[in-house]
Amino acid sequence: MTTTSTPATVDPVDVSRPVHRAELTQGERWTRSLTITVDGPAGSGKSTIARLVAESLGFNYVETGATYRALGWLALERGIPLDDGARLRGLAIAQPTNLGYHEGRWVVRIAGVDVTDAIREPRIDDAASKVASHDGVRDVLVARQRQLSLDRDSVLDGRDCGTTVRPDADLKIFITADLEERARRRGGQQDELGTSKSDDVAQDLAARDARDAKQSGAADDAIVVDTTTMGIQEGVDLVVDQWLERRRELLGQEITQGRTADEWINNEAGLANFDRVLSRTRPIWEKGFRLKSVGVERVPDGPCLFIANHASMWDPAFLITPLNRVIRYMGKAELAENRYVKNMADAIGFFPVRRGAGDRVALHIGEEVLRRGDSLGVFPEGTRVYEGRLARPRQGAARLALVTGVPIVPVAIYGNRWSESLFRVTVAFGRPHTFDGQLATPDNIRRATTQVWGDVQELWDALRADRSF
Ligand code: DC
Repeated sequence: MTTTSTPATVDPVDVSRPVHRAELTQGERWTRSLTITVDGPAGSGKSTIARLVAESLGFNYVETGATYRALGWLALERGIPLDDGARLRGLAIAQPTNLGYHEGRWVVRIAGVDVTDAIREPRIDDAASKVASHDGVRDVLVARQRQLSLDRDSVLDGRDCGTTVRPDADLKIFITADLEERARRRGGQQDELGTSKSDDVAQDLAARDARDAKQSGAADDAIVVDTTTMGIQEGVDLVVDQWLERRRELLGQEITQGRTADEWINNEAGLANFDRVLSRTRPIWEKGFRLKSVGVERVPDGPCLFIANHASMWDPAFLITPLNRVIRYMGKAELAENRYVKNMADAIGFFPVRRGAGDRVALHIGEEVLRRGDSLGVFPEGTRVYEGRLARPRQGAARLALVTGVPIVPVAIYGNRWSESLFRVTVAFGRPHTFDGQLATPDNIRRATTQVWGDVQELWDALRADRSF
């Protein structure tokens, strides 16, 4: 095979350092994804913990080590010497590794090949570590790892994620464990995978530690977690708790429509008016719109996520009135400025979302609202829909349910469009879905969305059939 050199005029690798959240403008922060880095040596439990944290929080999981492993695998496949930094760099540029989730697992692909299992062989431990020792290769792979983590909330797992890949991360964790314990775990892993087992796991690990040492330090602002005497779940819970604390801190600094995110989450001043506003407006909904409901008895007492179709700006009132309790809503930011609806919106604990802007702050406010024990109403069609059918739902609500463990109640509203009724609205509450013990993986989120939206559609069809005369 001949060596192809990259043309000198093209440097496809962007190594610019990411910018810290604090340096961004408010508008940029709203859309900025959130990042957790989990670094540490092999066998520390770091990868398992990082993956489970990502799946608990509904985050994307970026296993940076897999990019080194995949490149090592491909280099062996193609007979490229592991000490030829220039050729390896060229290969890394030409063949970017893809990380994604498919049918229940995180999949690693390079050069069109699924290498998820192949890269766990002990021979790849060694190849990856050698590949990773070339600075020219690291530049390329670090840029790729950044790219894989930028557009979605992500957990990055590796050695230098907190120091080099995402020095701008919102939370940095460094996981360690005694060498002896790490060797015991790594040996167990090799048994489990059925891969050929190296003779002296501890010795291999120590050699790899030494070779990886230069890129393996904890960031100054990392939280160090020693897992020597800790179970995996304990480690996961610890990181998730650290994250929730850190996020509250971040949201406390975030100002949106004149209030801090914390003020929107609690909104005690607005909610204090709930009973008064509800009793005052009840006649509008019950007499004016002849609001009727079915299935109220199915709704559990505690916090729920109500998922409904959406056609009228009064839909929140149509859900709240029959249940007689607070349901918070994410609404377009303009509502906070509209003096006619502002007080009513405030009384049900509305909080703003900047639509079309990929507003992430609003989603995290929503999660905190559920965590504080309030119910939340979501219209997953994203905008009001007027045609005689329901639109395709977005998946954010199912993610919230899986992350918080709050049940979803499917709801259909009929008669909320002029074409359907003249002031005759019916709301149907369906059977709740609970997702206990399910992680917020992409598959589970998709499945939950499909199930719940199927129920909404069925309830809506039933209401429509009932009304067709
Ligand atoms: O975590 P792991 O064993 O899958 O990592 C494989 C190799 O890649 C390891 O020897 C160190 C290297 N690596 C790195 O240098 N920087 C990272 N962020 C991740 C892994």
